[in-house]
Formats: sequence, C-alpha cells, structure tokens
Amino acid sequence: MQFDDVILGRRSIRGYKPDPVPRALIEEIIALAMRAPSSMNVQPWNFYVITGEPLDRIRAGNTERNLAGVPHSREFRAHGAYTGQHRDRQIGVAKQLFSAMGIARDDKERRQDWVLRGFRQFDAPVCVIVTYDRVLHGSDDAPFDCGAVATALVNAAWSRGLGAVINSQGIMQSPVVREHAGIADDQVIMKSIALGWPDEAFPANAVVSERRSVAEATVFVGFDD
Ligand SMILES: Cc1cc2nc3c(=O)[nH]c(=O)nc-3n(C[C@H](O)[C@H](O)[C@H](O)COP(=O)(O)O)c2cc1C
Repeated sequence: MQFDDVILGRRSIRGYKPDPVPRALIEEIIALAMRAPSSMNVQPWNFYVITGEPLDRIRAGNTERNLAGVPHSREFRAHGAYTGQHRDRQIGVAKQLFSAMGIARDDKERRQDWVLRGFRQFDAPVCVIVTYDRVLHGSDDAPFDCGAVATALVNAAWSRGLGAVINSQGIMQSPVVREHAGIADDQVIMKSIALGWPDEAFPANAVVSERRSVAEATVFVGFDD
C-alpha cells in the first residue's frame, strides 16, 4: 500500500470480525509503529497486547462499573465538556456515526448500547493498551510521544489490512484494565487501541470523518507566494 492510500483510506473501525489476529503480525505492526519519533528519542511507550479471556474480563469489568455509575478513573487529564468549534466537530462525527448506524437522536436505548460497545473495546479480538514510564509523569512530552506511536500503530495496522480505533473509553475504568492486563505500577495508562479485521458490513466503519482545510488550520509565515 502506498503512503497516501494508508493515510487517506484509514478510518476508525468500530465493528470487527471475530477472527484472531496472529501474534507475529501484531509484532510487525508494533515494530513499524515504534519508528515514530519521540522527544530526545526517549521512547517512553510500552504496549500491553490483550486477547482472549483477559480481554473478556476487561470488557465485563468496564461494562459492569460503567453501568453501576462508578466514576471514571482515567490516568490522564481530560478537558471536560467541549464548547464552540470543538463541540461542533465532536457533534459532527457523532452525527455521522449515528446516521450510519440508523440510531435516532431520541433512541436512548441504542445510544446507550453504542456507548457500551466502546467500553467493550468494540468487541475487537485484540486490545492494545499504550502506557508510558511513570518516572516521566508530569511531562507533556510523554503523552505527546504516545500519541505519535499510537497514530503510527493504527496506520501500520491499516497498511496490513487490519482496522483499529484509538480510544479513551476502554481505559476509563483504569483499575479494571490494570488488574486484568497485569499492568505494572511503574506504568501510566495512556490510551487503548482496539484492533482486528474490519467487519465490512458494519455501517459505522464506512464513515469518513471530516477535516478542516489546510487554510483553516495553518498560518504560513515568510512565504512569497
Ligand atoms: C485520543 C483519542 C481518543 C479517542 N477516543 C475514542 C473513544 O473513546 N471512542 C470512540 O469511538 N472513538 C474514539 N476516538 C476516535 C475518534 O473519534 C476518531 O479518530 C475521530 O473521530 C476521527 O475519525 P477517524 O479516526 O475515522 O479519522 C479517539 C481518538 C483519539 C485520537
């Protein structure tokens, strides 16, 4: 696959075939992802790749705790509710996804189902938890570097025919993930990435999310043209 095909073709995948993903292929993808740049090449990231029973225990624990209203315990700072243009973009992609899935605005039950799907890691056969070394906690560089490696990972996966979705939903109940994935205390949980073979028949997988134009996002300085 050419670079442009990967970048332009990749989209977040939220419906998967149950087929397993060979460990060797995941190793290949992680090796590609780890070519990502990092601040001073410190490579703060680590990966916990989970499948089978431990992943099912995480799905069950996440679902149970979220349904019981247990407050979220993500290990990174979140902004809270978005407003203005950020909120507009958040709503924009949600509308695209709900429309593809045929979920009506007032259909509380199916909306709830959709949220729970995220807590179940979209029923993907594999989940990759990205962590970083706790000794670096407090620096913004480590989360930035994790973002770089996570993006490289989903693109590498796409180049091999695999789908993925970076997500915060899977790690909102971090003690569950920590317990069942055996994540050491010296690691900070950053994000989860659901991974597997895309189910072509799952409508939301066809959604191509919108982007701002280059002109909107960019300021050119010192150019003649
Ligand atoms: C840091 C981060 C967290 C995300 N968390 C979630 C999530 O919890 N649930 C979800 O369905 N998608 C999640 N996404 C996927 C985004 O919604 C998606 O990347 C965005 O809408 C753009 O769509 P695309 O990936 O298909 O291009 C997340 C993506 C990133 C980078």
